[in-house]
Amino acid sequence: MGIENKLVILASGRGSNFAAIANAIADGSIPNARIIALISNNADAGAIGIAKRLGIAVRIIHSKNFRQSGQFDRIGYEKELSAVLKELQPNWILLAGYMLILGKEIIQQWANKIVNIHPSLLPAFRGLRAQKQAIEAGVSKSGCTVHFVTEELDDGPIIAQNTVEVLGTDTEETLSQRLLPIEHHTYVEAVSKLCSRSCVIRNGCVEWLA
Ligand code: GRF
Repeated sequence: MGIENKLVILASGRGSNFAAIANAIADGSIPNARIIALISNNADAGAIGIAKRLGIAVRIIHSKNFRQSGQFDRIGYEKELSAVLKELQPNWILLAGYMLILGKEIIQQWANKIVNIHPSLLPAFRGLRAQKQAIEAGVSKSGCTVHFVTEELDDGPIIAQNTVEVLGTDTEETLSQRLLPIEHHTYVEAVSKLCSRSCVIRNGCVEWLA
């Protein structure tokens, strides 16, 4: 058995990707891994209930406490987040529907350790409402991407991708619904690889070592 990978999940909402990863650890599809904490910026996140049911530690850093007259104090917020991460010392930080953009200090501090899932085939359709963007662009295929987080939004070396067909009748909701189980599978596949193999990043691409 390999060395145990300590995972920290960051989630702001529903938490279905988080649940998929937790279930995959429980059933052995992700080897050598343990989720040591869920961090959320939103006390109402569905992910918090999932963590509690699974006995996973929850840390809430209320982003609303850092918002004043429409301005978000990112530096203040990230100081707290940074302190929690420093204390937890994870091997991997997995963003799963985390709705805040991370600043460059945290990204540099945890370079090539932060992973995100995005609901499009990057580099297409970065940013919010990627499924809506795909429908509006009239593409016949879209998908999801698990990638390392860099300072550019929804950019960074790609770890895993899978596709979904876009139907002429699709709405943002139906496409999102059909894509979600593919996201779960793709995130599990990516985390499983990260926890069982070594990789390097060369010229912006992930290269898997033996
Ligand atoms: C997913 O579509 C993910 O790709 C995006 O946010 C959504 C989160 O869903 N980044 P969930 O909270 O994991 O259910």
